[in-house]
Amino acid sequence: MEALIKELVETYGPSGEETAVRELIDEKVRGSVDRTFTDNLGNLFALREGPAPRLMFSAHMDEIGVIVTHIDGNGFLRITPIGGVAPHLLVGQRLRFKDGVIGTVYHEKIKGLKELSWPKLYLDIGAASREAAKERVRIGDMACLHQPFVNLGERYLAKAMDDRIGCAVLVEAARRLPPSLPQGVCFLFSVQEEVGLRGATTAAYRLEPDYGFAVDVTSVGDTPEAPLMAVSLGKGPAIKVKDSSVLCHPRVRELMIETAEREKIPYQLEVLERGGTDAGAIHLSREGIPSGAVSIPCRYVHAPSEMVDVSDVRHAVNLVMKLSTRAWPLLDSGNGSR
Ligand code: CO
Ligand code: ZN
Repeated sequence: MEALIKELVETYGPSGEETAVRELIDEKVRGSVDRTFTDNLGNLFALREGPAPRLMFSAHMDEIGVIVTHIDGNGFLRITPIGGVAPHLLVGQRLRFKDGVIGTVYHEKIKGLKELSWPKLYLDIGAASREAAKERVRIGDMACLHQPFVNLGERYLAKAMDDRIGCAVLVEAARRLPPSLPQGVCFLFSVQEEVGLRGATTAAYRLEPDYGFAVDVTSVGDTPEAPLMAVSLGKGPAIKVKDSSVLCHPRVRELMIETAEREKIPYQLEVLERGGTDAGAIHLSREGIPSGAVSIPCRYVHAPSEMVDVSDVRHAVNLVMKLSTRAWPLLDSGNGSR
């Protein structure tokens, strides 16, 4: 699975530019499902047919990045964020465009970090003039972080763990599913999560699942002077209770806990005070879809190097598998009657 994770996190894919990630995932998951297809926004559906109810697991393919707003007379690029990027975390970082152009971020004169705002930042691609810059980059081109995957032993470090690790968990779970399932399962690889859960919105509408699950990273409280949070690396995947986008359906949460306990999968309960996931969009689709989330604990979410624990990832794969293979009750109202 490590090779899969490395390939996924190192692929270019800011929101709206998920094509390379989608092609890679399609190639990896195709052999493990009945069919895959793509919609107008670029979401990738990987479907295992089966009777109702239908489960939908969603991991987003997009990552945070920047977009070029202006090219100045000396060839410096001005940028604005795609998704939740803190400007101070970009200073000194290398960014890469789709076609491979690389630049480094720096800032104008400031008195302190507090003064650092997007208009103070620029991206230097080594162009000596506006004309030279324009030969390589156009207004509206996007760039994402340029960071290699590193195996630290018990832990992995990379850009875009949010949420390629979720994509890897779904691909691996799909591979390990038995030939026959008690219900239909769709693995969704969504687009544009970082700019407002957009892909999951249209995908949930199209799929009309009976249960929805986001599979995404969550923050942790186990680093020096971190904001108080009862999630740590290495203590198992987290079963979400709430974040700013969703209050997970209590029945879904209970069935997730029951599954984890029966299968002896370590888990934590997650209350995320800031941040959302695809579950936020899925549960509001149509007449409302009972939803939950499997979260992979992650340090430094939205920083250039995000860290996950190898055992948490392994247990998350197992939890998604066990959730897929347990029989979910048919709901007595809504689209469960299909
Ligand atoms: Co994110
Ligand atoms: Zn995410």
